[in-house]
Amino acid sequence: MKRALGAWALALWALCGALPARAATDAGRELRLELALIAGDARQLVEPAKSARRREGLSERVRSGLGTLAIEARQAAQADGRGDPQLAAALGELSGLFTAGKLPEFAQAAAQLAAAYPLDLSYFEPLAATAPRIEKGGSIYRRYCIGCHASPDPRAANPAPDLFRTARTEPRAEFLARLLGGIHGDRATTLENPFSDEELASLAAYFLAGKDRPPASGSKR
Ligand code: HEC
Repeated sequence: MKRALGAWALALWALCGALPARAATDAGRELRLELALIAGDARQLVEPAKSARRREGLSERVRSGLGTLAIEARQAAQADGRGDPQLAAALGELSGLFTAGKLPEFAQAAAQLAAAYPLDLSYFEPLAATAPRIEKGGSIYRRYCIGCHASPDPRAANPAPDLFRTARTEPRAEFLARLLGGIHGDRATTLENPFSDEELASLAAYFLAGKDRPPASGSKR
């Protein structure tokens, strides 16, 4: 649902033509972000002990992400006028592995491709978890996120994750990528991620610090 909205926004953006603020480097960043998210979802998909419903939810996200990637690769190619044939071939191969249901191979290829096109996380790493950042992150969380993320729908295929838990359990780069790419689709936060890098760093510092973590969240999922 959230992803679908994201893809919808992207399609609309493509129709309207690039907004003036978007440069070629931004298209590259979106592409790298999507790659990091797909690699993260693929990693989770091959983990044992995932429920069938959760696996279906993750597969749906991957499907939608691969579609978005194809659009983004085309946009990146248009932006710099030549494109990246190697990337196009690798994306085709990646989609092929997923469609064929070869999940371990798909996860491996996704991880390799994400490593070849890494997201620039230099603003966030190393992350200085200063007291003002933790405080700021907490106030954003309580204002904009807590309603969905503190009590996720247990029947949802893609429930709003417990962000304190993902901060502890996911590889750091994946957690940061999800934070950069995962906040969208809500009326209060607009369709695209509305937060500055500094605000996102504050959220990351807050979740990693684990302050105010609800007691029950550690044992669920
Ligand atoms: C209207 C409900 C809602 C609000 C408000 C909301 N989220 Fe979410 N969020 C969700 C749902 C549902 C998902 C799972 C979507 C999915 O997996 O496709 C999610 C997923 C995420 C993810 C993981 C994305 C990924 O790629 O796995 C992050 C990170 C996240 N939200 C952060 C936030 C933060 C930070 C805020 C507040 C600034 C926020 N969200 C506000 C419902 C919400």
